[in-house]
Amino acid sequence: MKDLKSKIEQYRKEFEEAVSEVRDSAALQKLRNLYLSRKKGYVAGLMDQLKTLPNEAKRDAGQLINTFKDHIQAELQKLQDTFQKQKKYVKAVDLTLPGTKCYWGAPHPLRVFQEKMEDIFLRMGFSIEDGPEIETDYYNFEALNFPPHHPARDDWDTLYINDDLLLRTHTSPVQIRVMEKKKPPIRIIIPGKVFRKETPDPTHAPMFFQMEGLVVDLGITFADLKGTLDFFLKAMFHNKIKIRFRPSFFPFTEPSAEVDISCTVCNGKKDDCRVCGGTGWVEILGAGMVDPQVLKNVNIDPEKYSGFAFGMGIDRTAMFEYQIPDMRLFYENDLRFIREFSRK
Ligand code: DAH
Repeated sequence: MKDLKSKIEQYRKEFEEAVSEVRDSAALQKLRNLYLSRKKGYVAGLMDQLKTLPNEAKRDAGQLINTFKDHIQAELQKLQDTFQKQKKYVKAVDLTLPGTKCYWGAPHPLRVFQEKMEDIFLRMGFSIEDGPEIETDYYNFEALNFPPHHPARDDWDTLYINDDLLLRTHTSPVQIRVMEKKKPPIRIIIPGKVFRKETPDPTHAPMFFQMEGLVVDLGITFADLKGTLDFFLKAMFHNKIKIRFRPSFFPFTEPSAEVDISCTVCNGKKDDCRVCGGTGWVEILGAGMVDPQVLKNVNIDPEKYSGFAFGMGIDRTAMFEYQIPDMRLFYENDLRFIREFSRK
């Protein structure tokens, strides 16, 4: 019995030492076999020895062996749990795995393009103005020389909030708001959202962006309008285009013109071009000399001052520049599209 006790003591010491050196599951298994293997393990050896003891001693000795066995089992289990946890942890920081891709945010392509347009006008001495997207009938129509029930209003149909309030159909009302507050010289651009009663298709959307321009000063002529737009459009389209003016009508300008640029897609060489329809020209903006009545509406003397104005779609211009066939792509938020164009 004494013999057995000291043997257990000896094994326990050895075990404590051995267990502190186990670093992996293989070493753990080895140690387990050494102590717990059913046939040759140390514990099995102790059990054999137990059989040789006199009956009175068996109970105490058996208890000693079992306590020792439990201790070993518990220690080995603890170690096994630790290894398992480490395995999980190692998985979480496996540096050989490809990382999760993380994208930088970027401005929307339309915003990038708008800033490009603004830069050209800022270089010419224009400043940027802003106005409300919910407008009154007066600013959106009447002050711009659209009398009530005038048929020209049909082309600018929109969503009404009540009889007097509506979502603005163009950025032109901001011309009036600015001229009410500032006296000439005025040289401004007005970028912003506008709204129309439109069903979305490749070239229409119920909401889109416009950029308006207004210059009012002494002695402003149509030549100034032509020179400014010529400079802007050539800067915008890298000098690669031709420009033409066509007579047109807008209630707030007289005379009025629509401005075309030569087709950037086919250069006038394809009869079935989807962008210009084979004409070689695409309309890019509306413009004209500010109607004297509009100046009167804001108490600027049309005998003394004159001005020109223009308005263009930012989306539309971006479509020509980047050769994007469908305006709806700007608003669908497909990240493949946004990423493609947000840095151009
Ligand atoms: N507001 C017009 C539109 O939305 C565009 C426009 C035409 C603006 C002629 C102007 C202008 O300032 O002079 O269709």
